Amino acid sequence: MDSQAAGRAKGGGDLSGAEDRGAVGRWRAVAPGRVNLIGEHTDYNGLPVLPIAIDRAIRVDFRVAGDAMVRLASPVVRFAPLTFQLKRPIEAADQGDWSNYVRAAARGLMEHGVELRRGIEGTVSGDVPIASGLSSSSALVVASALALLKANGVEVGRGGAAGGGAVAVPGRRAADQVVDQPAGASRGLEESAGRAEQAISRLELAAVMARAERFVGLEGGGMDQAACLHGVEGHALRIEFEPLRVTPVAVPEGWRWVVASSLVRAEKSGGAREAYNARARECREAVGGVGGGYRDLVAEPDLDGVLRRGRRILAPVLFRRFRHVVTEGRRVGLAEEAMRNSDMGRFGKLMVQSHGSLRDDYEVSTADLDEMVGIALEAGAAGARLTGAGFGGCIVALCEGGAVERVMEALAMRFYGPRLGGPPEGDVMFAVRASGEAGVGGHPPLSSR
Ligand code: GLA
Repeated sequence: MDSQAAGRAKGGGDLSGAEDRGAVGRWRAVAPGRVNLIGEHTDYNGLPVLPIAIDRAIRVDFRVAGDAMVRLASPVVRFAPLTFQLKRPIEAADQGDWSNYVRAAARGLMEHGVELRRGIEGTVSGDVPIASGLSSSSALVVASALALLKANGVEVGRGGAAGGGAVAVPGRRAADQVVDQPAGASRGLEESAGRAEQAISRLELAAVMARAERFVGLEGGGMDQAACLHGVEGHALRIEFEPLRVTPVAVPEGWRWVVASSLVRAEKSGGAREAYNARARECREAVGGVGGGYRDLVAEPDLDGVLRRGRRILAPVLFRRFRHVVTEGRRVGLAEEAMRNSDMGRFGKLMVQSHGSLRDDYEVSTADLDEMVGIALEAGAAGARLTGAGFGGCIVALCEGGAVERVMEALAMRFYGPRLGGPPEGDVMFAVRASGEAGVGGHPPLSSR
């Protein structure tokens, strides 16, 4: 399959020809993972992030159920088949149970006022490595939500407000868009099954799913769900919060990202959860101490003055958390500017600074992640950093041309060789492209187009 076709199949943005399959047909919801390029641990502080949606996705192949039950299976042995009823309240299963992500999607939609009368039955599969900081869990939440919306005839449209309460009425058009689209990107309502009674915009859905995923216990921000629902091929995504807004930024020709796992799982619902939530609390406490909000502080022209104030007022640990957040907030703007100017050398340097700040001030890196960043840079990456929440998971390295292979070879030899006793497999290290958004299409035609 060529890369464009792969992007379509995985990103699922091109849905033409899928509308006539009706309630008895088979469907596929496809939701990409994401790699965050810069802006780590800023989203829950109301500051922007700059991720890409990637050409790896979670897929839900489903048919509409005759009742209000959700029945999904997975080829992964440790993920037992799940069954639950779409009836309020949707209770959580045991901590760590994968059904919680599907339950979160259903619960979030219902709490938002979407009537879910029909369930879905099918299988979940995908190639986003799990617990690696690439948002496989948010991709599962989004794919499940899209499947449930399709099963219940709810249209998913572009634009719209992200903070809205009730579900929009039929016929809402794209006039109130706040998503900035690159030239040539499609606009308007989409994915209609021809029998829609309700509609929800992608931005609303991203915000609703971000809230919903907290059901799993992580006080996450909104980056993952927004990136998954707004991916644009060849573009990074500047995502702002309160209100949610997504602006695609073109990635200059010839640049790729290598993603490499530290071989340590960072489970959102497991061990990393407490440490993550503790960081979120510390950030709130820090900004409460300094006064004002992070957004205003980052916008102050004299950032050094802001930091001096923080150092005077805050205890050392809180000050370090604070310094990470405000400097990272500043770096996102600078990185976006560098990308727009095709100055990827500068972009890479900002990634390296971001990693240093995550390591020293935010304390979410590990010795292995640090070592991998060092290896990638020595092998010719223009920049490298941990990506996602940290505490394990992956690094992302910015590479031009032949540096992709050189970086992968160096990591294989120096990092994986001693640990795995051989070359890493496909899910451990791979190059990614900025890819398209989540969507629903008829199945199987979508996969073979
Ligand atoms: C996790 C969360 C995101 C974000 C990152 C850290 O992936 O789900 O919302 O906070 O960590 O940047």
